[in-house]
Amino acid sequence: MRELLLCAPDYYGIEYEINPWMSRARGAETELVKSQWQGLHKTLVALGAKIDLVPPQPKLPDMVFTANAGLTVGRQFIPSNFRHQERAGEAPHFARWMESRGYEILWLPKELYFEGEGDALFGGDALFCGYKFRSDIQSHRAVADMLGCLVISIELVDPRFYHLDTCFCPLPDGSAVWFPAAFDEYGQRAIRGHVSDLIDVEEEEAKTFCCNAVVLGRDIVLPEGAPNLVRTLESRDYRCHQLPMSEFLKAGGACKCLTMFLPQREKL
Ligand code: ARG
Repeated sequence: MRELLLCAPDYYGIEYEINPWMSRARGAETELVKSQWQGLHKTLVALGAKIDLVPPQPKLPDMVFTANAGLTVGRQFIPSNFRHQERAGEAPHFARWMESRGYEILWLPKELYFEGEGDALFGGDALFCGYKFRSDIQSHRAVADMLGCLVISIELVDPRFYHLDTCFCPLPDGSAVWFPAAFDEYGQRAIRGHVSDLIDVEEEEAKTFCCNAVVLGRDIVLPEGAPNLVRTLESRDYRCHQLPMSEFLKAGGACKCLTMFLPQREKL
């Protein structure tokens, strides 16, 4: 059974602009926020996941995006160092919660920005890490040393896809879903070199954040709006669960951003 960390959207809102999707003029609608988040929660529970809830905090509207809390491997947790001051206040809350659950906290040097699972996804034995907009490439080396695993650093080049989990989604059969144009030539080559079976997403669908999916075995929970990807996944015997996520897209997030795996991988 997979365990996932979520954070209820009690204080969620578009209160600042730190990525191209966010506009304070286009606020989130409270009722829809609640129903969409509940829909995600319910879907994950129905798929057999165990859900943990970290208490939301006032004045930290993006705390719902728990993928950015950090990275959990086995019983070890590497907290994020958020690039933007607006989110930095989340870090101690997440770290305290993880500590209270008995995880060993491994701190990165403060000057290295790292935004957790949002920029760090295991595919096979390799940890794919995105950098530039949020995480620093130097943080990857530190994470690799802490975990003792192969880290593949990939530059993100499209500001709309500023975290790796917005444009890349590894699947359990060794394949991955991706939006190639979010990476430069070199990054594309790195991904192609390590993932032999790639499912390309076209730009129209990538913009719906369809790569931002929670994968639980053969079940894939993703935002609605990507019929072509869903067809491809279903032809490969995945079951797709499409959810409305409009209110979270306004902050530049969707299903995967709203969850963190506890742990993403067992101890390597
Ligand atoms: N508004 C949040 C930010 O810009 C959204 C985070 C989305 N998280 C993710 N894992 N992609 O930081």
